[in-house]
Amino acid sequence: MLIQIPRALTKEQVASCRKVTDDGRWIDGRATAGPQAAAVKQNVQLPEDAPEARQLGELVLQALFANPLFVSFALPLRVLPPMFNRYGSGQFFGSHVDSSIRGIPGTGARIRTDVSVTVFLTEPEEYDGGELCIVDNYGTHEVKLAAGDAVLYPATSLHHVRPVTRGLRTASFFWIQSMVRDERARTMLFDLDQSIQLLTSTLGVEHPEVVRLSGIYHNLVRYWADT
Ligand code: NI
Repeated sequence: MLIQIPRALTKEQVASCRKVTDDGRWIDGRATAGPQAAAVKQNVQLPEDAPEARQLGELVLQALFANPLFVSFALPLRVLPPMFNRYGSGQFFGSHVDSSIRGIPGTGARIRTDVSVTVFLTEPEEYDGGELCIVDNYGTHEVKLAAGDAVLYPATSLHHVRPVTRGLRTASFFWIQSMVRDERARTMLFDLDQSIQLLTSTLGVEHPEVVRLSGIYHNLVRYWADT
């Protein structure tokens, strides 16, 4: 299952990101790719250790961790500092699955990548092509969102970015290790939580069935989560 988060970043936050990315010191995107992905990857990235990239990464994380939909879907345990990439005309990222384990730069710590996140930083009309295509059991989902919108999808998914044919496509991307490793369990928890939120708004937080469902939700999290 994949979800879109509209306005994960405000337009002001997007503008702050763009101030940095528009004048960024970009390097070959293959710097952070495994061998299979590197063979099909043609884009540029801000260096992981660039102070301005780290600062922007903090902005992106703060915005997303304050977003109930993000937390409900990802149930984050650990997170890799967001990175920033850009595709110009003719650049693309062929079909691949993201690396399963990634080191957190400068810490020696590692995370298992359960959920992949892309936050779009350019408006769809600024470039042609560049769709993020995510494959699941039901087909291929094409994603091209407004600047500030995010997409979250299981990191187990095969995906690619179509060639950009005009303009520049800039995005932030990162990975999350979830408290709930099993994607099926994560999806059920997300659906249950969304229903509870809806029932809470119509029935009230003290309604006995809302209380009971909330209890079931927390007991399932207790059953499935690692912390
Ligand atoms: Ni990828």
